[in-house]
Amino acid sequence: MSDSWSPAESGRERAPAGIEIAKPSVARVYDFMLGGKDNFASDRKVAEMALQIAPDAPEAARANREFLRRVVRHLAAEAGIRQFVDIGSGLPTQGNVHEIAQEVDPAARVVYVDIDPIVLVHGRALLARNDTTTVIQADIRQPQEIVNHPDLRRLVDFSQPVGLLLFGILHHLNDDEDPEGVAAQYREALAPGSHVAISHFHNPGAALPEVAEQAAAAEKLFNENLGTGRWRTREEILAFFGDFELLDPGLVPLPEWRPGPDDHAEQGITYHTFAGGVARKPGPGQA
Ligand SMILES: C[S@@+](CC[C@H](N)C(=O)[O-])C[C@H]1O[C@@H](n2cnc3c(N)ncnc32)[C@H](O)[C@@H]1O
Repeated sequence: MSDSWSPAESGRERAPAGIEIAKPSVARVYDFMLGGKDNFASDRKVAEMALQIAPDAPEAARANREFLRRVVRHLAAEAGIRQFVDIGSGLPTQGNVHEIAQEVDPAARVVYVDIDPIVLVHGRALLARNDTTTVIQADIRQPQEIVNHPDLRRLVDFSQPVGLLLFGILHHLNDDEDPEGVAAQYREALAPGSHVAISHFHNPGAALPEVAEQAAAAEKLFNENLGTGRWRTREEILAFFGDFELLDPGLVPLPEWRPGPDDHAEQGITYHTFAGGVARKPGPGQA
């Protein structure tokens, strides 16, 4: 990927060479929701339609980043994890995984993985002088390619516990792409004592009909405009943890996972449409 900038393909917008901006991208729509600047008109159009359905969607995005921060800090400071693989990492934002983990131990290693080339461009710029962190462009649906990627293997030793971070990514796998099988392949590659952390769009069904209705409308919008997006049931999300042991408080709305004094917890509708949890691979691991 070149670092040079080229005239944009649509309107007056400019983008790094090789980045298609006429078509919306998941990473850039999410960036818009987080108040970022790495998005284009096509992304903002989808984001604005999503805001019609879920006006508090930016709150859900923020809750996801706060959840990520608490989880990574827990894994580094309490569980002793020193190597992280963050798949579907998204564009750099405030409080990136390596910043949180390396606050605990500057030698902690982090590998970011994302399918979107814009993540690679911005990630490389951010990480130009960081020897313990890297970013690779790859597809979560190719677990063996990711696990055996030479750049990943340079930093990650799979005989030691790993923190596998799957924040906001498994809901971008459709049912016919075997998300359960994909998650199982990653779990299999990890040593005992490893942890997997997941945040996922949630449809509570009949328990909360108004929320379920919003989840269904958002799912339709995402699929029509981005080609992915599944709001899964609690049971479907739990299946991604396999036989790993869920840490307290289990799979919960994101603001309920070990909240700190500075975290937000506005109970809008999206509060119930984004769930998360962390689980540990059983066995005599160090962590
Ligand atoms: C909603 S963002 C989540 C970003 C970050 N993990 C977070 O939770 O804040 C989803 C990310 O997954 C990436 N993604 C979507 N499909 C992917 C795939 N098949 N393989 C790898 N990354 C993918 C997108 O490019 C995007 O950056």
